[in-house]
Amino acid sequence: MKKSYDYIIIGSGIAGLYLSLLAREQGSVLILTKGNIDECNTKYAQGGIAAAIGRLDTPGMHFNDTIAAGAGLCDEGAVSILTEEAADRIADLIRIGVSFDTVDGEIALTKEAAHSVPRILHAGGDATGGQIEQTLTAKVRQDGITVLENFLATEIIVENGMVKGVKAFESRSGSIEEIECRFLILATGGAGRLFKLNTNSEIATGDGVALAYRAGAEIMDMEFFQFHPTALRVPGVPPFLISEAVRGEGGILRNVENVRFMHDYSEQAELAPRDIVARSIVTEMIKTHSDRVFLDVTHLSPKVVTTRFPQIFRFCMDHGLDITRAPIPVAPAAHYTMGGVRTNIWGETNIAGLFACGETSCTGVHGANRLASNSLLEVLVFAKRIMQRTQEVSGLCSVDRANSKIVPLPVRPKRREDVPWVTLGLLQSLIWDNVGIVRSKEQLQEAADTLAVWQSMVGEPMDRPSYELSNLVLAGRLMTEAALIRQESRGAHFRSDCPETSPDWLWHIIFHR
Ligand code: FAD
Ligand code: SIN
Repeated sequence: MKKSYDYIIIGSGIAGLYLSLLAREQGSVLILTKGNIDECNTKYAQGGIAAAIGRLDTPGMHFNDTIAAGAGLCDEGAVSILTEEAADRIADLIRIGVSFDTVDGEIALTKEAAHSVPRILHAGGDATGGQIEQTLTAKVRQDGITVLENFLATEIIVENGMVKGVKAFESRSGSIEEIECRFLILATGGAGRLFKLNTNSEIATGDGVALAYRAGAEIMDMEFFQFHPTALRVPGVPPFLISEAVRGEGGILRNVENVRFMHDYSEQAELAPRDIVARSIVTEMIKTHSDRVFLDVTHLSPKVVTTRFPQIFRFCMDHGLDITRAPIPVAPAAHYTMGGVRTNIWGETNIAGLFACGETSCTGVHGANRLASNSLLEVLVFAKRIMQRTQEVSGLCSVDRANSKIVPLPVRPKRREDVPWVTLGLLQSLIWDNVGIVRSKEQLQEAADTLAVWQSMVGEPMDRPSYELSNLVLAGRLMTEAALIRQESRGAHFRSDCPETSPDWLWHIIFHR
């Protein structure tokens, strides 16, 4: 195996694949991915990609909606870039071969929550992520880019403040390889597997955040984790996502007593921002002593339902539910990691040569609450900028620290007799129960104490599951400690003991080892 590359990209979701196609024009490229090339969150994306390409839309309107959803913590410069550069990046994706759905020869646009106009492009109905992943993978194969599957990155090698390479665990042989590079790009996705109920792929174990934190990178906004309001709730069936676009096309939420309730919580009703809909559903579930509400599309034409949402229709049908005739039982589930490895508007971290892209990064575009379908777009826009930056080869990086405070991870006791041995199941239950949609100081304190003990228990990882567990525990600590520090409620972070939003907290929490 070659031991040195210009670019090493870790991950093979939309971020890793798209970056590799851009990077191959600049130098030698290696993708490391911990499973098969197609294991990622990207391929499950349903709703689509937001971009202001409609006649009645403008980047300025997209900017305003993104800022409003972000509840005071979006980086306005980054959002401006996101919304202004969106149309060009969509054109790039179309050139690579992604075929978006059309109506009368024009790209079809749908509405999702908190978007003021229809602005979401989709492919294959609700199979947007799958179409993107397949198209990019085919192009990566066609271009002969080297992809090492079953290679799990375990350590970022930094010397004198600069990235030198990466260590990776080859899960088939159990060996550790060291590979050098000029630029290392983390494209490792989110940490949704921290939660018992989540919509994520098994790969979403917070590896990028954990690796970057250990290497000395800054980690920002970890208290902001997005819960999707509507995941399927059927006993014994995974919480499969029921896209927000279903509400965008007219789906109605009712509680188990058949009462439509969203007008009681927001003027935008079913299309209020995600955090509001998720909390409203939780309130209704408590009120009606139920673990679910219903999403009803039976008033829509069956043809619209089956052609617009073929994956959702098929998945439900396979589990005995015909959604054209019966309402869909749903409940919120953990969905998207808004915090992550802090970058500037060029995708640079505070370590020279280390970049982050996609769900593992925190560019500042999402603030306290991500606007639906902005994440695939964020990848495209900032991947391009990363490549522009690496051509400048400054060797320096500047990350603006306005509106932020850098804090150390609090030190806590490493032993407690009553804490059981850590397992993935116990970790997911602890986080779901204590760091969930509604959190309190007591719950967070309990989770923080337990996680600190677990971190000292995990020891030296030996295989992929133990590496992932160790990363999840660290990512869970960063999330829980940030949620404890932020003594207010804002966006997706809701504290029952301090339910108000306070102007005193208009700053970002950054952990730095
Ligand atoms: P991923 O696609 O998750 O890829 C991460 C890659 O990194 C994987 O290949 C993984 O194996 C690899 N990896 C991780 N750790 C390591 C390691 N240590 N070593 C080597 N490899 C590693 N967003 C939208 O904008 N629109 C939508 O409609 C939408 N729908 C969604 C529906 C679902 C069900 C889900 C779960 C998410 C959805 N999202 C949507 C969010 C969006 O899909 C993700 O944020 C985005 O795809 C993330 O892309 P990524 O490349 O950053 O990460
Ligand atoms: C969805 O289709 O509801 C998911 C969209 C997103 O997470 O952006």
